[in-house]
Amino acid sequence: MAKLDVIIAPDPRLKRACKPVVRVDARVRRIMDDMLETMYAAPGIGLAAPQVGVFERVIVVDPARADEPPRPWQLANPVILWASDEMSIYNEGCLSLPNHWADVERPARVRVRYLDRDNEIRITEADGLLATCIQHEMDHLDGVLFVDRISALKRGIILRRLAKTRKTAAEKAAVPH
Ligand code: NI
Repeated sequence: MAKLDVIIAPDPRLKRACKPVVRVDARVRRIMDDMLETMYAAPGIGLAAPQVGVFERVIVVDPARADEPPRPWQLANPVILWASDEMSIYNEGCLSLPNHWADVERPARVRVRYLDRDNEIRITEADGLLATCIQHEMDHLDGVLFVDRISALKRGIILRRLAKTRKTAAEKAAVPH
């Protein structure tokens, strides 16, 4: 497995819509495994393929707390078949928007169809953090970030700060030493 570089916002690659996986084969399993390794190393609880520059509909999540055994999920072509009317709010973060969090409201429960790592069709119902996490990562596959689901004012503040952090880092890197 290999750890991959995570694309940081603002970046046009994070706005791209991803194409479906034709078949979960060895190549896709490799991407899934590399994504899990990258997510655990960050550490994070979810990662979508476009965040590592792969524009295919693949996500990985693990909602287990640090003191619980890992519960990794690897999903290709996830589709939401049903979402509850009941909503829940989580303070969300994202590996592509480091050090920024915001409350986001989403359906509390979802039923999801996807291909697992053996290319088998699975249908699962998720609630709690897992439901939120799956929806957050699925958004990435359509070029949507959690900041697109909060007010334009808050979104602007976060994206400007990220752009400024990047500029400062680039300037520091340019200083000869
Ligand atoms: Ni994210």
